[in-house]
Amino acid sequence: MLRFVTGNEGKVREAQDFLDEAVQQFEYDYPEIQSTDLGAIAAHGAREAYREVDAPVVVEDSGLFVDALDGFPGPYSAYVEDTLGIERVWNAVEPEDDHTGRFRSLIAYCDGTDLNAPTVHEGTPPVAIFEGRVEGAIVPPRGEGGFGYDPIFEVDGRTFAEMTAAEKNELSHRGRALDAFAAWYEP
Ligand code: IMP
Repeated sequence: MLRFVTGNEGKVREAQDFLDEAVQQFEYDYPEIQSTDLGAIAAHGAREAYREVDAPVVVEDSGLFVDALDGFPGPYSAYVEDTLGIERVWNAVEPEDDHTGRFRSLIAYCDGTDLNAPTVHEGTPPVAIFEGRVEGAIVPPRGEGGFGYDPIFEVDGRTFAEMTAAEKNELSHRGRALDAFAAWYEP
């Protein structure tokens, strides 16, 4: 059984779609480190959670990176969503020539053993890291579905908020990171 450390039930449901093994939500409020490196943030969380439960854990950290804003809000995406809101992120991008950006998702897995994965965050214990990205454009808010920045993120003419959950999962940064993790992971 795999514990997905998050307060977000939606992330757990997505993970269940990608992994045959039972995935269970584990709510554990650990202090997040401040870093511009999403992988380092997720790895720190996975280590903290593993120390707490002494069983295999997964932590996911994600963010929206806008090219014209030099990658902002990036690792600060949750804070910026809560404070400015997505409409004001769009307002900041609107006058720029370049509206491109991407979502990135970093999945960190830790089970206390040495891990033979393509990317390992060194430390004690080691943490395997899997990344997924999706390229898109920042647009004025459209659509009723999804969450977070979905209404201002467009891929192939539709915002994430205009897609069904299944359509978004096929394209999304988290879907791609979960795919990479599921291909590697052997319970
Ligand atoms: P966290 O990884 O849960 O901390 O989320 C980081 C920030 O990115 C939050 O503001 C989320 O709303 C946002 N975010 C992450 N994934 C998505 C997504 O798939 N759609 C829209 N916003 C997202």
